[in-house]
Amino acid sequence: MTEERPAYPFLENQTVRRWTPQAFGRDRTPTDLAASNRSDREWPACWGDAASLLEWSDTYERILDEEHAPFYRWFVGGRLNATENCIDRHLEERKNQVALRWEGKRGERRTYTYYDLHREVSAVAAALRGLGIEADDVVTIYLPKLPELPITMLACARIGAVHNVVFAGFAPDALVKRMQRVDSSAFVTCDGSFREETAIDQKRKADTALASLEKSLPTIVVDRLGASHGTHLGTDQYDYNELVETYAGADVSPVPRKATDPLFHIHTSGTTGNPQRMTHSTGGYLAGVTWTAQTVFDLSPGTTIWCTADIGWITGHSYVVYGPLLSGATVVLVEGSLRYPDRHRPWEVIERNGVEVFYTTPGAIRTFMKWGKSFPSSHDLSSLRLLGTVGEPIGPNTWEWYYTHVGEERCPIVDTWWQTETGCVLISARPGVDELKPGSVGPPLPGIEIQIVDEDGRDLPPGEPGYLTIDRPWPSMLAPLEGDQYWVLAEYWQAFSDPRAETWRYFTGDRAVVDDDGYVTIIGRDDDVITIDNRRLGTAELEAAITMVDGVTEAAAVAESAAGETTLCVFATLEQEQRDRNAVRDAIRDAVAERVGEFTRPASIVFTPELPETYSGKTMYRLLERVVNGRPLTDSDTLRNPEILGELITIWNRE
Ligand code: WT7
Repeated sequence: MTEERPAYPFLENQTVRRWTPQAFGRDRTPTDLAASNRSDREWPACWGDAASLLEWSDTYERILDEEHAPFYRWFVGGRLNATENCIDRHLEERKNQVALRWEGKRGERRTYTYYDLHREVSAVAAALRGLGIEADDVVTIYLPKLPELPITMLACARIGAVHNVVFAGFAPDALVKRMQRVDSSAFVTCDGSFREETAIDQKRKADTALASLEKSLPTIVVDRLGASHGTHLGTDQYDYNELVETYAGADVSPVPRKATDPLFHIHTSGTTGNPQRMTHSTGGYLAGVTWTAQTVFDLSPGTTIWCTADIGWITGHSYVVYGPLLSGATVVLVEGSLRYPDRHRPWEVIERNGVEVFYTTPGAIRTFMKWGKSFPSSHDLSSLRLLGTVGEPIGPNTWEWYYTHVGEERCPIVDTWWQTETGCVLISARPGVDELKPGSVGPPLPGIEIQIVDEDGRDLPPGEPGYLTIDRPWPSMLAPLEGDQYWVLAEYWQAFSDPRAETWRYFTGDRAVVDDDGYVTIIGRDDDVITIDNRRLGTAELEAAITMVDGVTEAAAVAESAAGETTLCVFATLEQEQRDRNAVRDAIRDAVAERVGEFTRPASIVFTPELPETYSGKTMYRLLERVVNGRPLTDSDTLRNPEILGELITIWNRE
């Protein structure tokens, strides 16, 4: 007898929810409707709707230039400036509206109106010019979550310089790797930052990195620690505040950029291989980001959004900085971790700032689950209207917890699929428009076309898992510089495209399945695959089965190889109250065997307080595999929680 099961454990427990626009306070018909109606018939013309949300100095002549496909060029002939769009055009109507609310680790608060931003961005732009920076020069920024970070990014954009933000938690070596290929002309950092009560010396890390570069760079240093820490400024190093004072009141007009000019470089997250440089264009990127900020996150002037991502990742670029400011919204920026000074912090931030849109990761939500519902429930979260998640699959259980205990069954959740390379969200249900299916990210947005294909690039029907590809170009797509086109072509375009037929398919590197309604369920990265018994299994699929067991909050499945045989090994974290570990072990074994197959019954299950993860919250399978197979641990510079490695080895050897 065969029993019918949904294609994926994720989809079990899936309760579909319908939302009308009115149900969560949306009172306008956003641009998505226009674009959705047009997207089939009038492609690529429909993308003109996204471009029309921007102010252009020169309107574009062609929406899409396919001549150098797959290096598509969008809005060719157009010119615009990012800060004109993020700041200047709001001044007339809302110069005194708050653009940025910052909360520091030590309880400090700062607010910037759009007018304040305008003044400080102009001053920093003038200061950068004073240091010899011009259009097309690259400025590397190595700052934690301080207001000076978005301000410096915008200052670069104002004068046409290209920013290259490097996550401040990276060690000097990782910073050097991310600077070497971009040829920076200037550098911006700070003296330090606080971790809990101790000051960490950011400047020393920066100086170590600078010393190993071939040329010396003019450097701006933000004072975060205060005068008592007395940071020494070396040759060609300048204090940020002094520069802002010197250039106060400077009038720097925004430099119009070609739509196809680079706005910034950013490095991919490095979960698997070496980090690679990505580049995003000015016109296409901003069009995609502003359109999704409005249709997916429902941002309009005055909406308060808190996206917990670090600005050093694409999520922060698109939905902390550019998307919200383009929409005239209010950005909440929070320094430090969500658990400091205690587990009330996330909910206090929402309560205190009247956050309407909250955007975070499944990893963070699982942490909140581990802490328990008493934390969100002891705060007034009634300002929330819309919740979002990104970065990895969220199983229906985690979705339901988020929906019930954070959204109070009142707020729709958008599970947004995208990548550093895609620039903006490409697959997501639109709140108030599409129904929500927990565990599935949703249908592709209007104007986006996807296809699931097999190893040979053949189209697969609904219900059959395969590789997720994107069939048509989109405005905020990766826009590699000429020198990068060679590897970008090989990495993203060649696998499933037929150059002779001149059809190009973008290879996302993800595995996914589409249901009959066109909803996409992400199974995991192609490289997060384990082969057992000659069968390829997505780790996400196994983990979804494991986290369905009561008391389990997080899991990672890795393969253990011994004597030519591969078995499954599970690392799991438990809810705090969970005591009976053996019962949980048995339940995990049964759940995996039952939901995925008897041949996958885990051979070993170990419990750990945390999984090793990258700074952007992705489990580092590579390191777990090395623990399990007793190999040396190397290449861990993107690891957020290095302290867990020693513990993992001890736990593993004890079991
Ligand atoms: C990879 C991209 C740009 C977002 C932040 C991460 C995974 C992203 C989802 C989602 C399941 C997701 C994919 C993708 N991913 N969003 N909603 N559900 N998986 O950016 O570091 O470039 O990673 O994150 O595997 O390819 P990134």
